[in-house]
Amino acid sequence: MTQPTPIRRVAGSRPRLLDAFCCQGGAAKGYADAGFDVTGIDLNPQPRYPYTFVQGDAVEYIRAHGHEYDAIHASPPCQHDSECQRIQGRTHPDHPAHTVPQAKMGRPIPPGHYGHYVGNFSGVDRARHVLGVPWMNRDGIRECIPPAYAAWVGHHALTHLNTRAEVAA
Ligand SMILES: C[S@@+](CC[C@H](N)C(=O)[O-])C[C@H]1O[C@@H](n2cnc3c(N)ncnc32)[C@H](O)[C@@H]1O
Repeated sequence: MTQPTPIRRVAGSRPRLLDAFCCQGGAAKGYADAGFDVTGIDLNPQPRYPYTFVQGDAVEYIRAHGHEYDAIHASPPCQHDSECQRIQGRTHPDHPAHTVPQAKMGRPIPPGHYGHYVGNFSGVDRARHVLGVPWMNRDGIRECIPPAYAAWVGHHALTHLNTRAEVAA
């Protein structure tokens, strides 16, 4: 989820985005690429996170500092909702079906298939390249929101923020 916050930006500065539950920074890269000045917060140390980092509880930090940011992105742990949970015999009927076949977990990716970067997948170098996250290890990649997704959201968020700034000016 990405939540715009009602503050006005200083002219000329890049809008600030808080990347809550940041892990190693997949979403962060997309928002940075879109033009945000990104700060991440995570409960655990994240020495690979390539932007400004704060260690702590995301919800407490948002309560105290959320108003200092133009937008807040949050991607808390979501394994419960992952399709991988089918392995455990769980079903998720609200998931739309994929239109392109997915490679089997941990297997090489056949032509015309999507990669499946979950669990103990192999091919970390290829995943780094495909996702555009060369600093990440497997732990970070399997957790991450692909930067391209966050960049898409970020571009739209910036358009919205810029429109509001023009209206307020
Ligand atoms: C799904 S990952 C986030 C992936 C990240 N957005 C990316 O694109 O790379 C969830 C992260 O939430 C962190 N986390 C769990 N509980 C938290 C809390 N209470 N406050 C902050 N971070 C928390 C975990 O350490 C983990 O790194």
